[in-house]
Amino acid sequence: MTIWFTYFCITLFILLSSTALFFFVLTRGTLIARDIFGNSKHDASHVYPIYSNIRLIRLIDYQPVIAAILLFQYDRLVSVIVNGLKNTDLEGKNLLVTSCAFGNVLPRVVKAAVEGGVRRILIADIIRNELVHAAQKLDAHNELIEFVEENAVAMKQADNLVAANIIFFLLHELPHHLKAKALQEAGRVLMPGGKLYVAEFHRPNLMLLRILSWTYFKVFEPLGLALWDTHDPVKQLEELGGFSCERRTVFFSNFQIIIATKDSHGLSNSQRPAHLAS
Ligand SMILES: C[S@@+](CC[C@H](N)C(=O)[O-])C[C@H]1O[C@@H](n2cnc3c(N)ncnc32)[C@H](O)[C@@H]1O
Repeated sequence: MTIWFTYFCITLFILLSSTALFFFVLTRGTLIARDIFGNSKHDASHVYPIYSNIRLIRLIDYQPVIAAILLFQYDRLVSVIVNGLKNTDLEGKNLLVTSCAFGNVLPRVVKAAVEGGVRRILIADIIRNELVHAAQKLDAHNELIEFVEENAVAMKQADNLVAANIIFFLLHELPHHLKAKALQEAGRVLMPGGKLYVAEFHRPNLMLLRILSWTYFKVFEPLGLALWDTHDPVKQLEELGGFSCERRTVFFSNFQIIIATKDSHGLSNSQRPAHLAS
C-alpha cells in the first residue's frame, strides 16, 4: 500500500511538473528567449508559440484543458457574454471579436449573434494561424463571418462599425503600454450605444486563491498581474472616457466580465488614437 502510494505521488509530481515546464517553455520561456536573442521588436513578439504554431494550437485547444486553465469557470464566463449578446440589438448590425481564443467561445458567440440577426461577424487576430484554426471551428456560419488579420491596438476598421465587440482574455497578454490602446481601439470601432465585453482575470478576494494566482502570474504570465491594480481595465476605460462600465466578478473575484456601453455621443476626437485622429 505504502509503495503504491509513493509511486502515485511520484507519478503525479512528474506529470504536474512536466505540464508546468511544457507551458512555461511555450509561454514566458519563449518571451525571455526572444528578449535575449533580440527578436522582440515586432508587433506579435508578445504572442506565445501556443497561439502561433498551428500544431501547438491544435494540440492544446481541447475544451476540458481550456476549462481547467480557467478553473472550470470558462462556461460561466462565456455564458455572461452570450446572455449579454442576446440582450443586445444586433439586428442588421455588425459584431467584432477582437482576438481568437481557445475553447468554444467563438462558436457560442457566433451562434448567439446569428440568432440575434447579425449582419456581419468580424473575427480579428494578429496571428493568421489562429484565424485558420478559428475558421475550422466555425464553418457552419461561414457566409456571415469575415476573418481579418489585425492588430488589436491599431485596427484598420472604420469608426462606429460594430454594435458589440468581444475581447476574451487578451489584455493580460499585452505589454502594459498596449493595454489601454487596445481598449481605445475597441471603443473607437464600437457604435454609440454599442457594448464592449471584456473577459479577464481579476484580483481574487480569497487569500489562498490570491497567493496561488499571484504565483501563477509571476511564473507564467507576468503581464497579467497589472490588471489587478495599475492597469485595471475599468479604470482605463473610465480614464479614456465615453463609456459606462459594469463589472461582474466570478469565482471569488478571480475572473471578471466588464460590460462597457459606449456613450451615445461617442468618443471625442481627442480620445481617438493618433494614427486615426483627423
Ligand atoms: C485572446 S488570447 C486567448 C487566451 C486565453 N487563455 C484563451 O482562452 O485562449 C490569445 C489570442 O490573442 C491574439 N493576440 C495577441 N495579441 C494580439 C493583438 N495585438 N491583436 C490581435 N490579436 C492578438 C493571439 O494571437 C491569440 O489568438
